[in-house]
Amino acid sequence: MLTDRFGRVHDYLRISLTDVCNLRCTYCMPENPEFSPKEKLMQTAEIISLARLFVLSGVKKIRLTGGEPLVRKDVDSILNGLAALRESGLQELTLTTNGIFLHDHIDALQQTGVRSVNVSLDTLLPERFNAIAKRDHFHRVISNIHLLLENQFNVKVNVVVMKGVNDDEVIDFIQWTRDYPLHVRFIEFMPFSGNKWQDKRLIRSAELLERVNNFLEVETLENKKHDTSRAFKVIGYTGTFAFISTMSEPFCGDCNRLRLTADGKMKNCLFSKGEIDLLGALRAEVELSPLIRQALGQKEEKWGGQPLFGTTENRSMVTIGG
Ligand code: GTP
Ligand code: 5AD
Ligand code: SF4
Repeated sequence: MLTDRFGRVHDYLRISLTDVCNLRCTYCMPENPEFSPKEKLMQTAEIISLARLFVLSGVKKIRLTGGEPLVRKDVDSILNGLAALRESGLQELTLTTNGIFLHDHIDALQQTGVRSVNVSLDTLLPERFNAIAKRDHFHRVISNIHLLLENQFNVKVNVVVMKGVNDDEVIDFIQWTRDYPLHVRFIEFMPFSGNKWQDKRLIRSAELLERVNNFLEVETLENKKHDTSRAFKVIGYTGTFAFISTMSEPFCGDCNRLRLTADGKMKNCLFSKGEIDLLGALRAEVELSPLIRQALGQKEEKWGGQPLFGTTENRSMVTIGG
């Protein structure tokens, strides 16, 4: 088991497949991104080798992230290789995507037993989508969300809420859950390198919930252990909505997550400064388990030991994968 010094058992690994993305959301990507050269990224077999080691150490859930994971040409082979780790104890394989290329991978997702997909979408207005993401893919994302639903996937829609940018759409997003079994999650805007985070753009979940309560009759749902979100439902609606409140109500006490960046560095926290080069060690044929334990041993209690409302040292979000 991968247990840290606070007794938290880590059984969820987020693997970033690439730092490339086909959108340009400013809250995630710096203005002039430098994408890693291919040889610095984990190759298919390396991803599977590293993932196998984590699964043998107790990881039960793997989420693929990016950048945008589906821009990688070998993503279906990666899914296949990871799906085979079910024999070694993996229970859940899933991904977080911007949805643009989903239609090309529905079969691969079904064949590899992916049941749940998280799709990032910050607005229901096509023009606003172009303003936030700087690319004209709104209709493709919407149609792919419906494609997932038609194919019985469990779909969570991730909305990063920014004051004065899209906070006026919270009720519209919730109305989407009236007839569709969607799970919309409103995420507090978090600071990362190069993402122009400002306190004045942060809108706390409590304030949003109050707004929703003024319009709709809402019930509180039970949360599962390790959930990053607090879930609610409008009475009578098909889907649900939730808040991910990293900034106002951190959920670090229950953290079970580890991260592997696309260039093979292990991060013990979303906000950790330190990283351990597992890919370098794998290529140098160095024993990896002690390195993983060392990284875990350095995990801080909360927020990677950083003051999130001050200056933080970290990568850009696009190179972490969320
Ligand atoms: P589920 O497994 O479906 O609960 O998804 P998830 O919330 O773990 O992952 P997703 O990639 O959909 O991320 C949604 C939001 O939660 C993003 O803004 C992430 O950055 C944030 N998030 C994911 N993991 C962590 C974490 O370990 N700590 C914090 N603070 N935020 C996280
Ligand atoms: N704050 C909060 N969430 C973010 N994401 C990307 N950047 C930020 C940020 N600055 C979300 C994306 C995606 C998930 C992996 O992380 O919207 O859904
Ligand atoms: Fe875990 Fe770090 Fe996220 Fe807190 S901020 S929940 S410790 S990954």
